[in-house]
Amino acid sequence: MCGIVGYVGNKNATDILIEGLEKLEYRGYDSAGVAVLKEKNIELRKYKGRLSVLKENLQKDKIEGNLGIGHTRWATHGEPSDINSHPHMNSGSAIAVVHNGIIENYLTLREELINKGYEFLSETDTEVIPHLIDYYYTGDIVETVKIVVSKLEGSYALGIIDKNNPDTIIAVRKDSPLIIGIGEGENFIASDIPAILKYTRKVYILEDGEIAVITRNNIDIMKTDGTRVKKGIYDVNWNLEAAEKGGYDHFMLKEIYEQPKAIKDTISPRYKDGSINIGEFDLSKEYIDSVNKIYIVACGTAYHAGLLGKMFIEKYAKIPVVVDVASEFRYGSPFIDENTLMIVVSQSGETADTLAALRLAKERGAKVMAVTNVVGSSISRESDYVFYTWAGPEIAVASTKAYTTQLVSLALIGIDMALKKGTIEETEAHKILEEIRKLPSQVELVLKNVEDIKDIASHVYKSKDVFFIGRGIDYYVSMEGSLKLKEVSYTHSEAMAAGELKHGTLALIDEGIPVIALATQDKLFDKMISNIKEVKSRGAYVIAIAKENNEKIEKTVDKVIYISEAIDELTAVISVVPLQLLAYYVALNRGCDIDKPKNLAKSVTVE
Ligand code: G6P
Repeated sequence: MCGIVGYVGNKNATDILIEGLEKLEYRGYDSAGVAVLKEKNIELRKYKGRLSVLKENLQKDKIEGNLGIGHTRWATHGEPSDINSHPHMNSGSAIAVVHNGIIENYLTLREELINKGYEFLSETDTEVIPHLIDYYYTGDIVETVKIVVSKLEGSYALGIIDKNNPDTIIAVRKDSPLIIGIGEGENFIASDIPAILKYTRKVYILEDGEIAVITRNNIDIMKTDGTRVKKGIYDVNWNLEAAEKGGYDHFMLKEIYEQPKAIKDTISPRYKDGSINIGEFDLSKEYIDSVNKIYIVACGTAYHAGLLGKMFIEKYAKIPVVVDVASEFRYGSPFIDENTLMIVVSQSGETADTLAALRLAKERGAKVMAVTNVVGSSISRESDYVFYTWAGPEIAVASTKAYTTQLVSLALIGIDMALKKGTIEETEAHKILEEIRKLPSQVELVLKNVEDIKDIASHVYKSKDVFFIGRGIDYYVSMEGSLKLKEVSYTHSEAMAAGELKHGTLALIDEGIPVIALATQDKLFDKMISNIKEVKSRGAYVIAIAKENNEKIEKTVDKVIYISEAIDELTAVISVVPLQLLAYYVALNRGCDIDKPKNLAKSVTVE
């Protein structure tokens, strides 16, 4: 959470910082600020509210300067307010700091600093940093930052400027992402690539424990012990348009519509001559045979994808799989040893809880495979095997195309394992692969059906509560549909395993309550019809999602959205799409801020 950006060059720093922050707003958007070096002083502007508030204020009160740092915040310590916004400065206004992450020992540090006479203006954890720099200042800012970071516990990506070094930005990271954009006669820092893509496609990805000293014409990277680091340049192979709305009203809608392409891009490189070729890594038969259990660990939408992964791997590769949310996993007593494989699923590759689970598994001797969308992310760098979802940048806070590409990735991984273990016949694997290849066009068909979904949304948006029900895979997709609706439209919603309804939740069903019933699983269809009748006879307004040959469902429900025929294990990739669209149009009807729902952020880098 929180986005940071920095610029040094010969252009107007304020404009570039604002442009960069606009691309990082998905990381946090409750306040924003900049600190720009103007002549010999650091000028600070920071305001509660969206970036537009800062922007308007800067239009009235321009700061001219060629070096600066900026921040867009998702509050952790201290409510959103002007004072708690970043950058934070020392009392003499000589040092300004932007921070993404949490300083866990800030209370102790704050107390120590107060005892030494330092005065704090904000309630943030971050404010200890400029004061610590002030306290330990040796005259050499780089050496001072090294001392200061040795005192910090927790996670941080920091951008630091010092008026006594008016040509330099210091960047340092631990457990929060930070990249350096390499320009000509100008350089940048940012939490994520889109912030600098207008100016350069060449970046360095900073690693934990590295400090970068950045001037207009030079970038020095070293470890905190002073050893120089020689880094490879990462060439970004996607362009800015991929991170722009491209004519759609919202990123969420654009990303929903990008799914056929995203799925295709994820499948195609792994499909060779009728068979799977994962490409990035080759799990040996010997290794797969040695794996006796798999943990799939993730958060939010990625966790829902993990549930489908379990279905695939258990059914075809016959390896027991436990799926857990990362924030819970570490605090249980997981059985991890060298025969365990952990699969972490994460769009951003930076989610703090998922990263912590990965590290725990590695410490205990397990191998870790990442399914992630971000090349160079912490999770991709720390995993033994990385399977990329080639979804392109996902900007809307609510995840859509990342989810469907995670589903197809886990399906491919499951089939690959099954083939190696010999638990699936080649002919069956080929049949499933052919079905997987049909998915982009099947998703396309749902997208063409949008008018029906808009119509349903114009009814559902008036409801205070909405229930989603399903069995098996449909239950997992219900969970995702319900999450989407909650997060973008602020409608209370629950997903229930349809067979569980009568154990309590049925008491909540009243006249007119919308129930979205997924009935796409052939073997569970009749049972689902019985569950639908249970809610229907208590007055629910039932909207079903069913396969196109199951028209008889029309007799039992109020509305049906049909999806193409597909094997049961793959329906999720198609059936989630109407649910994504429903959430979008309900939110639109309710006038919600769809791409930036209240209280949320896309990249959750705090535990
Ligand atoms: C946040 C996002 C979700 C995402 C979850 C996990 O809550 O809003 O869309 O599913 O984090 O993020 P990850 O990047 O690890 O997939």
